[in-house]
Amino acid sequence: MNVALGVGGGIAAYKAAELARALMERGFAVEVIMTRAAAEFIQPLTFAALTGRKVHTQLFSAASSEDTLSSAIEHIRLAQENQIFVIAPATADLIAKFAHGLADDLLTTAYLAFTGAVVVAPAMNTNMWNHPATRANVEILRARGHIIVEPDEGLLACGMVGPGRLAEPQAIAEAVAAASRALAPRRDLEGEVILITAGPTQEPIDGVRYISNRSSGKMGYALAEEAAARGARVILISGPVALAPPHGVETLPVRTAVEMRQAVMDRLAESTMVIKAAAVADYHIPNPPQQKIKKTSARMSLDLDPTPDILAEVGRKKEDRLLVGFAAETGNMVEEARRKMRDKNCDMVVGNVVSNAGTGFEADENEVVMVTRTGETIPVSRAHKREIARRILDQMMHLRLALHAQH
Ligand code: PMT
Repeated sequence: MNVALGVGGGIAAYKAAELARALMERGFAVEVIMTRAAAEFIQPLTFAALTGRKVHTQLFSAASSEDTLSSAIEHIRLAQENQIFVIAPATADLIAKFAHGLADDLLTTAYLAFTGAVVVAPAMNTNMWNHPATRANVEILRARGHIIVEPDEGLLACGMVGPGRLAEPQAIAEAVAAASRALAPRRDLEGEVILITAGPTQEPIDGVRYISNRSSGKMGYALAEEAAARGARVILISGPVALAPPHGVETLPVRTAVEMRQAVMDRLAESTMVIKAAAVADYHIPNPPQQKIKKTSARMSLDLDPTPDILAEVGRKKEDRLLVGFAAETGNMVEEARRKMRDKNCDMVVGNVVSNAGTGFEADENEVVMVTRTGETIPVSRAHKREIARRILDQMMHLRLALHAQH
């Protein structure tokens, strides 16, 4: 993993060399960015020798004209190619600039362009550290999700005793390692084959008309993406949606409930887990005409038959697979989810209220309650569907362990 090490101008800058070494010993590739003031305390050459890489000190280097563009976008490259940005020592000035989005040199512009994990290790005089302005700025960074490695207490270079001394390089390196563990994709679903249904079905009325619903496929696709990212082989059986097939996922397009049932049954044998997030039409016209039905002035009614209940059929054939259904409800969600779990022989049902604006059908977010065969009821408050997908898959893994333990 690539780490950008930002070095601020303070007496503790020399400890950043030790930090660079500690990071490299842990297997990180380190690229150093120094402020102008930092270069007064320690030579860029020291970092260049330690890391074996060019050390960046200026936003615009005095370069030949053909280098001008590349130096002008250096802060963007630094932000894109590194996954973690650690700033040590972070002076009061740097912390204030980060907090308020000021960008007047390479380090601060790279910070603004950076979207990965940020670790900030402050070092300054005790009074500066305790000043309400610094306290407020640190809180802004913390609220932004940055990891703050608190300074140590002790005798400072200015002669004062108190908090403000840069934390030990090993402690900062450990914070960076923790950030990298959090960033590294989990591979806990390796070996699983997860069959997921998503989206609506379309049930033809004639050659041009159909019955359908508002499902966008976002919930099922988020599950497929999350499962694939965590190492599962994913078979996604999708009704008609406007979403691109997720990367690394075998996506099988279907249109009707009958086609979806066929695709699920064809692939059931190879699956270890099944998640039925699709909004399958409950009724269809068994043999719709190919031609467009002519409009007349007479009243018209449609004769609808129930569609095959795919979830119930998988429930009957599930063997030791983990089966998760969804329940789209406008009323008593938990009770309905429990009833569906029993009736369809599911291990878990994810209930979502679909009458609230901003969640459920079509929305980017959802709010769900998971009810499990082991008797748990777990609410998940409103979040992006990818986060909901993560929580559902986490719960499925817990459930798998709990059910194994019962046997
Ligand atoms: O696609 P999005 O816009 O992201 O919206 C997500 C969603 C709201 C559609 C999704 O979160 C959801 O709730 N999906 C299930 C919708 C649904 O059809 O619920 P239901 O209560 O009618 O069905 C219960 C379960 O039986 C579901 O797992 C469904 O896939 C399954 N079913 C239903 C009918 C049928 N004939 N066969 C089935 O397998």
